[in-house]
Amino acid sequence: MPDSSSLSILKHQLEKFSRIDLVGNSTPLERLNRLSDFVGRDIYIKRDDVTPLALGGNKLRKLEFLAAAAIDEGADTLITAGAIQSNHVRQTAAVAAKLGLKCLALLENPIGTDAHNYLSNGNRMLLDLFNAEVVMCDALTDPMAQMAEQAELLEAQGFRPYIVPIGGSNALGALGYVQCAIEIAEQSSAGFVDFSAVVVASGSAGTHAGLAVALRELMPTTQLIGVTVSRTADAQRPKVEAIAQDLMQKLELEGDAPEILLWDEYFGPRYGEPSQEGNAAIKLLAELEAMLLDPVYTGKTMAGLLDGLEHQRFPGDGPILFVHTGGSPALFAYL
Ligand SMILES: Cc1ncc(COP(=O)(O)O)c(C=O)c1O
Repeated sequence: MPDSSSLSILKHQLEKFSRIDLVGNSTPLERLNRLSDFVGRDIYIKRDDVTPLALGGNKLRKLEFLAAAAIDEGADTLITAGAIQSNHVRQTAAVAAKLGLKCLALLENPIGTDAHNYLSNGNRMLLDLFNAEVVMCDALTDPMAQMAEQAELLEAQGFRPYIVPIGGSNALGALGYVQCAIEIAEQSSAGFVDFSAVVVASGSAGTHAGLAVALRELMPTTQLIGVTVSRTADAQRPKVEAIAQDLMQKLELEGDAPEILLWDEYFGPRYGEPSQEGNAAIKLLAELEAMLLDPVYTGKTMAGLLDGLEHQRFPGDGPILFVHTGGSPALFAYL
């Protein structure tokens, strides 16, 4: 159960940052009854797939802080980058539309596919609805430099651009997942649920880092497991740790950085390419719970959770929480 003084310290620290309220009330935290019966263990879900803007997802929490910083700096344009089917780019374009900003989306095709649905349906279709300007590139080899180039071009046209990093993942964006951890701590306490473990996708790493820093304060006996979606644990760990360290500084938290636990057996064949196990997890959650996962992030992460149960990788026998970070619009691009 959360320590009330840590809770008030974190809430107080969060209030120091400029923020636009986009998420509103806490997202639901629910027990997955049929899945729990099926696997023989209590499984709960944190519904960040239903954050309220433009088909939901985890990026809205980060954008509360990033868009506020953009507006504070006098920006009139958000630049960001990602894969053609990026949920992050879709949510950034949606926030830009809602706030009356221009959005420039720098996109790559990381799996080199020419499948019609991938190129034009799902998240990519929504970018056009939000009126984002799309610029294609061969590959996002150095995204910050590539976005800086786009910023220069826009400045020459009189715009005032703000660069949102890939995935909204820096310490400022990760504040959104400090908020999510506060909600998890409060909701689990109100429901008398003591989680053995929390499972989340670990990609550009801001979600994982925000949860790692805040859950260590609020629920120190609960294990947080990041399931990687794009790289090995050795390559992912420094990314999560770097954001976690910056975040601790921002929040004026002292002490050691949180331990970062990663499972990296489930991201194959590669980022953005579906796996058999991920697709099986998508089907299982749909048929048992009418819960929609996605082929790039949450399907693979749920595959990790299911495999972890089968191979007794979780501590104890208490309930497990799956953080649903969204992504279902990509189903229409892949399936
Ligand atoms: C649906 C979904 N889940 C998880 C993630 C991973 O979050 P992060 O990039 O903060 O690690 C993303 C990132 O784009 C996403 O779109």
